[in-house]
Amino acid sequence: MFLLLFILLVLPSPSLVMTSSPRAAALWRNRVSSINACQQMEAVGGGLTIRCSGLRLTQVPAGLSNQTTRLYLNKNLLSSLLAYSFSTLFLLDELDLSHNQLSSLEAGCFFGLASSLRYLDLSFNRLTTLDPAVLSGLQVLANLTQNPWHCDCRMQMSIPQLDVDQSSLEKVICQTSDLPNLGAVGLPLVVLVEDWDLCQSVRRTSEVVTMVTMFVWFSMLISYLFYYIQQNQAVARRHLEYLKFLESRDPFRPR
Ligand SMILES: *[C@@H]1O[C@H](CO)[C@@H](O)[C@H](O)[C@H]1NC(C)=O
Ligand SMILES: *[C@@H]1O[C@H](CO)[C@@H](O)[C@H](O)[C@H]1NC(C)=O
Repeated sequence: MFLLLFILLVLPSPSLVMTSSPRAAALWRNRVSSINACQQMEAVGGGLTIRCSGLRLTQVPAGLSNQTTRLYLNKNLLSSLLAYSFSTLFLLDELDLSHNQLSSLEAGCFFGLASSLRYLDLSFNRLTTLDPAVLSGLQVLANLTQNPWHCDCRMQMSIPQLDVDQSSLEKVICQTSDLPNLGAVGLPLVVLVEDWDLCQSVRRTSEVVTMVTMFVWFSMLISYLFYYIQQNQAVARRHLEYLKFLESRDPFRPR
């Protein structure tokens, strides 16, 4: 009993210390040191230019001044952007996120930038698709070059919903597509959708799948019907034979 109490009282505390606090401390150190490592410069026309280039950052540093007009986060190790990453930077005019490892942008990650941002550099990342929800309201000139864009029906549907300057989309070059055999790879997305309807192939595929499914169901029904009829015939024949047999054994039957 005493031993059990001892275990209950003593064991949880070291494990808690092991798991939560050093990790939290490391996170805190990372966020604090990273903003201190950035260079801040007063811009000529007011506002701040903050350079955090090449600092191996894995997240957007906390504590960025709300007077920031230009923010350079290029050449870091950012792999995703969380919602509200820049929501306090209401004067931000230019945001450079090029040369990172961004493969996903959470919806709302550019929230708060719609009225101020004019230039957004997302080149040299790992983006595969353009989500209109992520870029909604951003009437920016975006550099979208050098990403492994995957051109499919979803991308085609996104084009008319995007607020970004249409010239930005000319640089969205398909690295993979749903039409690899048609030589679409290496073409700009906007050129591709002029010649092919990427959603048509999806529709055609789903039509084929529906046809095949219906055919399978139909043939199963037919074979079941055949089987049922044959079974019934066999049973009827057996009944008939039994009746004949009874008839033949009937002693009162006149011969
Ligand atoms: C900008 O930041 C300063 C100091 O951090 C704060 O006092 C001020 O209220 C902020 N301005 C706005 C409009 O949020
Ligand atoms: C986009 O970035 C590439 C590489 O950094 C550069 O060569 C190109 O000029 C940029 N395009 C625009 C529109 O800024």
